[in-house]
Amino acid sequence: MTRGQGGRIGPLPPPAAATAGRLAAQVVRWQRRHGRHGLPWQGTRDPYRVWLSEVMLQQTQVSTVLDYYPRFLGRFPSVQVLAAAPLDDVLALWSGLGYYSRARHLHRCAQQVVAVHAGCFPTSSAALATLPGVGRSTAAAIAAFCFGERAAILDGNVKRVLTRVLGFGGDLALAAEEKRLWAAAEALLPARAVDVYTQGLMDLGATVCLARNPACALCPLAGDCVARRTGTPERYPVKTRKLQRGRREHALLWLQHRGRWWLVQRPPRGVWAGLWTLPEFESKDALAGVAAGWAGQGRWLPAIEHALTHFDWTLHPLAWHWPARLKTLPDLLDQADPASSRWVTPQEALALGLPAPVRRLLETAPP
Ligand code: ADE
Repeated sequence: MTRGQGGRIGPLPPPAAATAGRLAAQVVRWQRRHGRHGLPWQGTRDPYRVWLSEVMLQQTQVSTVLDYYPRFLGRFPSVQVLAAAPLDDVLALWSGLGYYSRARHLHRCAQQVVAVHAGCFPTSSAALATLPGVGRSTAAAIAAFCFGERAAILDGNVKRVLTRVLGFGGDLALAAEEKRLWAAAEALLPARAVDVYTQGLMDLGATVCLARNPACALCPLAGDCVARRTGTPERYPVKTRKLQRGRREHALLWLQHRGRWWLVQRPPRGVWAGLWTLPEFESKDALAGVAAGWAGQGRWLPAIEHALTHFDWTLHPLAWHWPARLKTLPDLLDQADPASSRWVTPQEALALGLPAPVRRLLETAPP
């Protein structure tokens, strides 16, 4: 390992071939004995199934995906069925997995595979990486699992494993350092069993080489691990530019009339794009002002705290019962676009693509 001033950890060249061969062999052996087996997307080389699992697993834990994956496959058993389905159906089944741009990319990717590739996924990582929502690491995972291609993956977990083992202290906020780590990941690839090796790296990252309190005593790479030797595994990976998280606060109107709820569809860009939700207002005061002259009665419900990638969001729901006997509805409904707003029964609402916190709120049933 190189050390700069003040004991800072510095970048490293890729590993020598002999070291690379030993590390890869240890990962493969460990995966066969101690890695995860029997996950529903393992034991298949069907790229549709593998692609679906990899996209679901991009920012979501295995335990959550175990619940969604079979349901999704049941409704969309092939890339053709998925491509032909309305986007709303895809979003509805995705509801709760978060990061909805993934679901939109998934749908577009299925349509591209059908339209451009005659329904067959491309077989190289380079071609797979041209598909919507399929980044370099996801493309490599699909190519390694389905076609045995020697392609390197480098998702967040694998970055942690490799930077620690190699003592790679380059700042991954810098594109040049990230590129060097990709080169190191490629230099480590074994000649054979690249599918087992790829799964092994994922499994090590998820179950042993944890961000905090890594279980080094269980790690097959402990003997070679630079970070372990120097006693500082938790200092890796190095990434200086941290995401600046913001805060936002809004109010939501849960308008109820004759057993129906008023829902609106979000615009196609931005947070919760394309999902159905309750109308949103700038603030509690803004919504209270709008509702001040209304018939019926309302009640503020407990605030919802929701964390998104870039900000923490506090949402204040106001449940309002508009009297059933009144035909005239609040003015704001006259101005609403009928294509993206409607009255729905609770059952219809819960079948739509709803953001997870809104779904949880609506599932509590009207107060
Ligand atoms: N995370 C990303 N891909 C995975 C896979 N194939 N198995 C388990 N966890 C994963």
